[in-house]
Amino acid sequence: MAEKRTDAHPDSLASHQNVALLMRDITKVFPGVVANDKVTFELKVGEVHALLGENGAGKTTLMNILYGLYQADSGEIYLYGKRVRIRSPRDAIRHRIGMVHQHFKLVPRHTVAENVVLGLDGAPFLAPARAVEDEILQLGERYGLKVDPKAYIWQLSAGEQQRVEIIKALVRGADILILDEPTSVLTPQEVEELFKILARMREEGHSVIFITHKLDEVMEVSDRVTVMRRGKVVATLSTADVNKPTLAKMMVGREVVFRLKKVACERGQEALVVEDLWALSDRGLPALKGISFSVCRGEILGIAGVAGNGQKELVEVITGLRRATRGKVFVLGDEVTNENPRRIADKGVAHIPEERLKRGIVPEMSVAENLILKRHHRSPFCHGFFLNLRAVKRFAHHAIEEYAIMTPGPDTPAKLLSGGNIQRLILARELSGEPALVIAAHPTYGLDVGATEQIRQILLEQRRRGAAILLISEDLEELMSLADRIAVIFEGEIMGEVSPEAATLEEIGLMMAGEKRRVRR
Ligand SMILES: Nc1ncnc2c1ncn2[C@@H]1O[C@H](COP(=O)(O)OP(=O)(O)O)[C@@H](O)[C@H]1O
Ligand SMILES: [Mg+2]
Repeated sequence: MAEKRTDAHPDSLASHQNVALLMRDITKVFPGVVANDKVTFELKVGEVHALLGENGAGKTTLMNILYGLYQADSGEIYLYGKRVRIRSPRDAIRHRIGMVHQHFKLVPRHTVAENVVLGLDGAPFLAPARAVEDEILQLGERYGLKVDPKAYIWQLSAGEQQRVEIIKALVRGADILILDEPTSVLTPQEVEELFKILARMREEGHSVIFITHKLDEVMEVSDRVTVMRRGKVVATLSTADVNKPTLAKMMVGREVVFRLKKVACERGQEALVVEDLWALSDRGLPALKGISFSVCRGEILGIAGVAGNGQKELVEVITGLRRATRGKVFVLGDEVTNENPRRIADKGVAHIPEERLKRGIVPEMSVAENLILKRHHRSPFCHGFFLNLRAVKRFAHHAIEEYAIMTPGPDTPAKLLSGGNIQRLILARELSGEPALVIAAHPTYGLDVGATEQIRQILLEQRRRGAAILLISEDLEELMSLADRIAVIFEGEIMGEVSPEAATLEEIGLMMAGEKRRVRR
């Protein structure tokens, strides 16, 4: 392991004194995949240690083993130099290890204080309300974890819920805190606050493991970083000694181009116009409240916002999957409000859906069949009632090659493909008809760096070809590098629109949190 010595820790190799945790040669095999392959990971007392890796690298598995959720097949865990066995989260908590999962495990109908005591040893539920509330307030003071102990979970933002999870771990005495991709649900301001909290925790002597796949976050918050790739540790380094390109290369095993080339936008025909659009959510509540915008050919309009603010409903209304209760949608000048999805698709609208597996493919069907889905009723695939199998095969082979879909063959069931390959399959199908309008919902969500970069290039290529693109994304970096304009959605309304060149992350973040943009002249 490339452990580098730093000035701050001249004795780091010699002494075990400042080592909080050592996981040695941890191996964990799941059916068909070695999730952790002889992983060795060391955490020092009072450091923030980033665990960096692409999706599927094995980060969560390693931490689930530390937290007692999984048992390693082999390997050892040492805490402060002493060998331990951790068979359950209860064991982990006893060893003063806390974990904040990617998906929070709070009970929405209970208060903050109730959630904090829930499952606490020796604390009868609801009994010591005052004491718990006081403790929450004190911890809040000490670590900057501001939250009202009497508030109900359902009233809280994602950032506040995360603070409750951290408090919960601290109340249980956690010295070692694991945070699994903690920023994925936060606005930029909430991320900044979280980083301040982590700095406080470090000052108070806690050791923090911070899982992420974002290089900026590693650089900003960590003292050291361990990079994982395909179940193995690539290196452990002092953050001060590395830079983003080096880390990216270690993470993906090759060079990554960060700067995407963007050609100047030539405004043309309006491909999509949305006028005063209203719609209800699945629960019958207003999800869209008077949305208006337009997208020209050759242009990417980005929609920024924390998930759950109407993005899903907006996409569904435009693509015909949900009824608009008011307002109009025009595609290439024709009104398509509340038309059926097939008719809208036939107008030249491609949809790259948010729920890839549910809406993007039919998992049981083959790659080839999935590639002609929705187009099987058209030539050249169909003559009368018969599918032209040769045409289908030819098209499939071509698409697999052009979009670099890694599959054993066109007859392989689509469900066996990895996330990135499923997404490339969907893009190959949706973009093959040279659509006038592309609706791309979170197109790179959950994909690794390599696949992400490819998909962004494909979108830019579509834009260059003259497609209008509506890009819905939570990833501000993605929107800043791809979009010509960015509109921010909050609780079903557009808070404002900015140009990526002129806007700051802070400005967009404020709008994501519900602040309307002041009109500037
Ligand atoms: N419970 C499980 N059952 C089967 N495979 C799993 C399970 N958990 C994780 N894996 C697999 O192990 C590998 C590593 O996954 P994970 O640890 O979640 O990666 P990361 O957190 O770095 O994205 C992936 O290939 C994943 O599909
Ligand atoms: Mg994970």
